Amino acid sequence: MVISQRSDVAAFVVMDVMQAAADLESQGHKVLHMEIGQPGTPAPDNVLNVAKEALDTDKLGYTVALGIPELRQAISQHYADRYELEVDPQCVVVTPGSSGGFILSFLTCFEKGDRVAVPAPGYPCYRNILKSLDLDAVDVEISPDNDYLLMPCDLEKLDPPVKGVIVSSPGNPTGSMYSEEQLKELVEYCQANDIAFISDEIYHGISFGKPAVSALQFSQDLIVVNSFSKYFTMTGWRIGWLVVPKEMVRPMERLIQNLLISTTTLSQLGAVEAFKCYDEFDGYVGQYKAKRDLLYKRLTEAGLNKISSPDGAFYLYADISHLTDDSVAFCQRILNEIHVAVTPGVDFDPVRGKQTMRFSYAADMDTIDEASKRLKTWFMALKIT
Ligand SMILES: Cc1ncc(COP(=O)(O)O)c(C=O)c1O
Repeated sequence: MVISQRSDVAAFVVMDVMQAAADLESQGHKVLHMEIGQPGTPAPDNVLNVAKEALDTDKLGYTVALGIPELRQAISQHYADRYELEVDPQCVVVTPGSSGGFILSFLTCFEKGDRVAVPAPGYPCYRNILKSLDLDAVDVEISPDNDYLLMPCDLEKLDPPVKGVIVSSPGNPTGSMYSEEQLKELVEYCQANDIAFISDEIYHGISFGKPAVSALQFSQDLIVVNSFSKYFTMTGWRIGWLVVPKEMVRPMERLIQNLLISTTTLSQLGAVEAFKCYDEFDGYVGQYKAKRDLLYKRLTEAGLNKISSPDGAFYLYADISHLTDDSVAFCQRILNEIHVAVTPGVDFDPVRGKQTMRFSYAADMDTIDEASKRLKTWFMALKIT
């Protein structure tokens, strides 16, 4: 059979590393996982209990396409409780992870061939999903010189102009965050220039100074993408949400009906409960900070001096240009030699990422402690040889 051009997208390299780690594990090796952005903590007990009860008592049929009303209401209440923002539950769309939310957002906002700006380094799937939908992802270089933030002046330079932009704050892989003024300026620039603004807020709740600002604070004429995968520690439940302008709800509903029917019922029931567990989730943030500090200390002691100093999320992004210009082979070596899975920078930035790598400190403290010790020893040995 002929394979379509649109399916010829780059791999999500993190997942390839995870597979390589799984292959090692199947041979009996213990691998320490720092490749994947997956909290080491499970969903809270009351989420699990509701799911267990639902397995016994609920028929677990399809739900309505936009999500069960209790969950859409709970998400709306989340904006009232955490941001003091009024969000109409009718504008909340429940999705299979934020990943499902991107597909729906891109399909709803753009026509075939439209140019959409994505930050480089940035979350790789933005670029790859856009390509699979026959859209033109335009990489916009961001760097430590601009705090790894995409600014209006970066968009101004693009010729022809873009029809949309997607950013995340806190960002992946750098953890950098927009201040209130910076985000406001970017949103206002996009609105003045008819650029659809998509704000990936999946790492909200995981920040070490000020809380992250939602783009909804400045306008409701944009899309906010969020998920239960990170702050809510429910990665495998595959559930997220969008907040969209009122006129987009029905087109999204039609897309969901046809593409997905609905999001997993069990996950929707569990997700309602997650909003009762803020104390548990907030407790994890202090642990992420302790893990970040430990990892940062050990990596700098090992001679990695150019590392992003993140305000949020759970990643460190390191410049390894003094050590390699092939980050894929470099990370493969680390996996094979010390059984620590880490991600080459090419996932996030196809060009400059050949000389960078990302460490996730989302796993539990014991894993980060052991992995960072192994990494320190390995990098120090590299300096000596
Ligand atoms: C910035 C960002 N957005 C979205 C996702 C996808 O998350 P999910 O589909 O689990 O909601 C990730 C996963 O790592 C991410 O880092």
